Amino acid sequence: MKKASIGLVGLGVMGQSLALNMARNGYTVAGLDLDEKKVTAFLEGKAAGQNIFSVTSPKTLMAVLEKPRRILLMVPAGPAVDSAINGLIDFMEPGDILIDGGNSYFLDTERRSTKLEALGLNFVGMGVSGGEEGALWGPSMMPGGQPAAWEALKPILEAMSAKADDGEPCVVHIGPRGSGHYVKMVHNGIEYADMQMIAEIYDLLHRGLGLSNEELSEVFSTWNEGPLKSYLIEITADIFKKNDELTGKPLIDLILDEAKQKGTGKWTSQNAFDIGAPIPTINAAVESRILSGLKEERVRASEFISGPKISVNTDKAVFIQAAHDALYASKITAYAQGMGMLKIASEEYDYHLNLREIAKIWRAGCIIRAELLNDVMDAYQKNPDLVNLLMDDSFILAIEERQEAWRSIVTAGINLGIPMLAIGSSLAYFDAYRTKRLPANLTQAQRDYFGAHTYRRIDREGIFHTEWADPKVPK
Ligand code: 6PG
Repeated sequence: MKKASIGLVGLGVMGQSLALNMARNGYTVAGLDLDEKKVTAFLEGKAAGQNIFSVTSPKTLMAVLEKPRRILLMVPAGPAVDSAINGLIDFMEPGDILIDGGNSYFLDTERRSTKLEALGLNFVGMGVSGGEEGALWGPSMMPGGQPAAWEALKPILEAMSAKADDGEPCVVHIGPRGSGHYVKMVHNGIEYADMQMIAEIYDLLHRGLGLSNEELSEVFSTWNEGPLKSYLIEITADIFKKNDELTGKPLIDLILDEAKQKGTGKWTSQNAFDIGAPIPTINAAVESRILSGLKEERVRASEFISGPKISVNTDKAVFIQAAHDALYASKITAYAQGMGMLKIASEEYDYHLNLREIAKIWRAGCIIRAELLNDVMDAYQKNPDLVNLLMDDSFILAIEERQEAWRSIVTAGINLGIPMLAIGSSLAYFDAYRTKRLPANLTQAQRDYFGAHTYRRIDREGIFHTEWADPKVPK
């Protein structure tokens, strides 16, 4: 019987691309999918002549795999992962490795790890970023699970992964259990922030400054040559150039302004609240998508509620440069929040995350790949215990140089009535983070006033409560 180095369950778009990637790198793949038509189309189409064949049952899959067996699940996150696991485990043997390459919720991965580990099976929750193209030509991968499972997967994952400019593979063992999916979740939170901040700058340059799509494309292309160089800036420049095939008009102007979401950004915010990680920019990005969904309400409101007159009087080139600087400073701040969240989570969940390695594997293949990640990596190289990216010397300087422009752009948004939830939140986070005394003293006083919640003092130790109101005078 023909043997395979790895099994792949779920031959959807991502599964097919990953199978082709593995085969191109010299691994024989056995695929399993319930949809026979899809399998045949794949085998006779894209996979023709490749080292890919299909099996029709979990039992046959186990029979054709080299041991320890490696099986990658590429099925939709949620109950489908549990059914796929349940369909396979009866045929698996101790030491075999099951990998979930979907965008699973990290606590589901924790639960599945515990269940499989009790049976002597290895379970790897692996974040995969880069979309269809990335999966085919080199994704960034974030596997979490047993070290032995990582060792058995390392050669194949390294071969498949994207390579950074220095040739380093964009995959590393993230840590135990759900850590890989956790890191992928935060990657997506940063992705939401990046995308929203770019959208806000687009709004400001388009509606505020009046740049055409052509001009916007040029601006973003130029920005992609400098410190903002990144995949998201690159595709943004492309998007503004695309004309609609049906009407010949710029496609961007015809797309409905309601942003959808599958949920990973929302999970990032939800979990940040649970573990006490301040990530206002990511939260603002999630909120912005939700707000965009109120299309009908917004259309009605626009007829009744007026704002300021939109006109920019600043020199065009100066304004564009300020927008660039504001975006860059906000981006640093958003990454500081995401990395800060990882630092807190690492302790909370005992993940022992290596932030330098995480920045390193995000430099290519994934959606947030960016020049900036080299600097993030360097910052953690200099100081592995860095408490916050904003405390790194190079980033302090980078923001210092752009602070004035950053403030001018947030002010411009306010004056023009153009919402900048994410960029504004980045600046507010930055200002809060560098503030020695925040007004939380008043919050504490109020809590103590109405609820006797107590407070601490700056001039002596202990917990205090004050009878704030005169008890004889009811309020
Ligand atoms: C990636 C992407 C990928 C997917 C997002 C889209 O890293 O390759 O993040 O995982 O495109 O899940 O998420 P939304 O539908 O929530 O925007």
